[in-house]
Amino acid sequence: GIKIVTIGGGSSYTPELMEGFIKRYEECPIKEFWLVDVEEGKEKLEIVGQMAQRMWDASPYDVKVYLTLDRREALIDADFVTTQFRVGLLNARIKDERIPFSYGMLGQETNGAGGMMKAFRTVPVILDIVEDMKELCPDAWLINFTNPSGMITETVIKYGKWEKCIGLCNVPVNSMMKEPEMLSINGEELIYQFAGLNHFHWHKVFDKTGKDITEDIIDAMYTKDDGTPTNIFKVDFVREQLEQMKVIPCGYHRYYYLQDEMLKHGLEEYHGIGTRGEQVKKTEAELFELYKDPTLNYKPEQLTQRGGTYYSDAACECINAIYNNKNIPMVVSTKNNGALPDLDADSIIEVTSYLTAKGASPVAWGKLNSAEKGWLQVMKAMEECTIEAAITGDYGLALQAFLLNPQVMGGNIAKQVLDEMLVANEKYLPQF
Ligand code: NAD
Ligand code: G6P
Ligand code: MN
Repeated sequence: GIKIVTIGGGSSYTPELMEGFIKRYEECPIKEFWLVDVEEGKEKLEIVGQMAQRMWDASPYDVKVYLTLDRREALIDADFVTTQFRVGLLNARIKDERIPFSYGMLGQETNGAGGMMKAFRTVPVILDIVEDMKELCPDAWLINFTNPSGMITETVIKYGKWEKCIGLCNVPVNSMMKEPEMLSINGEELIYQFAGLNHFHWHKVFDKTGKDITEDIIDAMYTKDDGTPTNIFKVDFVREQLEQMKVIPCGYHRYYYLQDEMLKHGLEEYHGIGTRGEQVKKTEAELFELYKDPTLNYKPEQLTQRGGTYYSDAACECINAIYNNKNIPMVVSTKNNGALPDLDADSIIEVTSYLTAKGASPVAWGKLNSAEKGWLQVMKAMEECTIEAAITGDYGLALQAFLLNPQVMGGNIAKQVLDEMLVANEKYLPQF
């Protein structure tokens, strides 16, 4: 049987992961599930952990869920390690949002100053996890969900020198689920090609005859649900731009292509109902009230209010593909290896890849047009500076990353926002 270890097991998303593995048990026979958390998340771990055990108990399968704060104990002989932790929990996210907004800049979980600060907090922890894995489960796969997912995956592979790592996100899953519905086509008949960075990819779609139907989807996006996750405010992309691009941007591109409107909306929430993190904190509290019910043994509907809904489909399918050597296409964060020749071969990109027991083989996309190439190279440079600053604690490089980021206003204001955020996060930033 398979041993899975989930780091950040106290997440409210955990029941979704259990549901995904219960559904796939016949193909992926799990023996043990270890949910790992830290002191700060102990109470959440207990509640959601008991709920997870009830879900297995209500299934025909005999699986034991272990709860622990001792990561090293959990990692011994693991087959798959999945990561879904948030250093500093939602309170840290709320600071990532509120501080930039207070300077009139975007405050968002994975974009702008907040996303970079989340990387600063997370990079030291993920590198510690990799060191433990080298010792305790040297053959295991690391399946990363922890955001910023692309940068964390790049950290593991490039700096942790751990090649058996796949980064995941639910955004492509949602697009591939909803777009066929928009056109009333069976999704299995479509061929998808994605490439770019996590939360910054583009995609194209072909029908079963090989005809490019991307423009039909672009047409439908203006009137139908295209699967953009619930956490992103839906402003329409400018039509002429998409017609020129002839590729479909991801939901998160709105923060860049429609920066003024997205910023305006974000600031309204910041001054009004609260930032996304503040809203999510309420949803989380409601979910944990439900999870406390000793009779609840299935995933409650309310979990779909979270932007990460369906992430478990990516996690479970990925593990299934590796475990059963399936050679199926999935969109993952993995090493470029020439799929996007506009970036270095060892850069981590998010790309349609074939998954086997050996890992992910990216499908070549080819050169990008000038506009997309420019965006991609700036964003990758920002990611590289962010990761290196997160490892070394080099203040000047952190400032360079901030200045490169299109969401951060240039000038002394960039330094002010960085300084305030470094102080606010002191507890989680041993490297600075
Ligand atoms: P959360 O705030 O509930 O955090 C999850 C758990 O991580 C908490 O119980 C917390 O105590 C724990 N934790 C914190 N530091 C830890 C550490 N050092 N070791 C072990 N556990 C630790 O977060 P959430 O809202 O459930 O999201 C979890 C993570 O997954 C976030 O990083 C989020 O960005 C990410 N996420 C990614 C996707 C994706 O598409 N890749 C989708 C959803 C969520
Ligand atoms: C999307 C992204 C995730 C992100 C989540 C935020 O689904 O793919 O990477 O963490 O939304 O959702 P939330 O409900 O926490 O705002
Ligand atoms: Mn994501």
